[in-house]
Amino acid sequence: MRRHEARLKSLTLRFAPRGAGATILTMLVRRALAPLVLILVVVLALSLAVAHRSSGATAQTRVIDPQVAMGAHLFVQFACSACHGLQGRGGVSPDVPALKKVGKALTVKQLSSIIKHGLGESADPKKPYMPVWGPVISKSQVGDLVAYVRAGLPNVRYADAVPVPRDQGVAVAGAALYVRYGCINCHGPNALGGVPNPGSPDKAIPPLSGQDFRKEFNTDAKIIAVIRSGSVIGKPPITSMPHWGGIIPNSDLKALAAYLKTLK
Ligand code: HEC
Ligand code: HEC
Repeated sequence: MRRHEARLKSLTLRFAPRGAGATILTMLVRRALAPLVLILVVVLALSLAVAHRSSGATAQTRVIDPQVAMGAHLFVQFACSACHGLQGRGGVSPDVPALKKVGKALTVKQLSSIIKHGLGESADPKKPYMPVWGPVISKSQVGDLVAYVRAGLPNVRYADAVPVPRDQGVAVAGAALYVRYGCINCHGPNALGGVPNPGSPDKAIPPLSGQDFRKEFNTDAKIIAVIRSGSVIGKPPITSMPHWGGIIPNSDLKALAAYLKTLK
């Protein structure tokens, strides 16, 4: 009892030298308010932090499925986005459909089959067709692309096409475009060719460099003509040169030809 009284006294001295009644009241108010103020400060700090993060990167705070993320990167790497638009929004050419609705309309099997075997290809292509990707894209990658399409082609951080420097000469632009339009996936780095294409007469996708290429394609006009028209060498599972007319603008075709001429 005594010890308790002593403590009360010391508290009284510390907190309120005005009188016992007022002292207890002040103590009660302080004791009740202190945690409240603390909670308020914490809530305020948290909400400021959340507001700060979401203002910078709204979509990024959500966790993305790794398979869907890989699909988004492949969609850019294989230049699906060059023909179907970024995130499959369309708007590039009236001959290439948007892909926003196809994820719900088609099954996994149908989508995989279209990516592997292509669609709308004809022996003498007059308009863009869906290329045959079977020899170039693995089963696992097809699965990732299908997952991405079926997820509604969401925005995924860093899944962006490579930037194209436009003020450093046409060959520099062409080098970036060679990656941006996905030529590199089929014709290889430095256009060395050699990507296996079993079933085709040469068994591989041709190089766009070296003596034979230079002899046959000895003018810009010849190079540009074959990029525009494409060239079909066989039915699926053979992959052919896509038709890029109406998709790659003239200035980019010239830049691509300029870049190819810098190679061995
Ligand atoms: C050179 C242009 C081009 C590229 C590159 C391209 N596509 Fe296509 N794609 C087309 C065209 C054209 C069609 C429509 C073919 C038809 O219906 O005859 C099509 C159709 C499709 C369809 C079916 C759409 C529907 O409504 O039935 C899917 C799915 C598809 N493409 C996915 C892809 C994916 C995934 C990639 C990348 C791996 C890709 N495409 C790359 C041109 C392209
Ligand atoms: C899906 C694979 C694929 C993609 C992507 C592709 N090509 Fe081709 N390309 C081929 C195949 C296969 C041939 C061979 C056609 C033939 O022999 O008639 C070819 C042929 C060519 C030729 C003629 C060379 C020759 O020896 O016949 C040129 C030039 C060419 N491609 C440029 C490009 C450029 C530039 C790009 C990017 C805009 C590109 N290609 C993208 C597969 C592809």
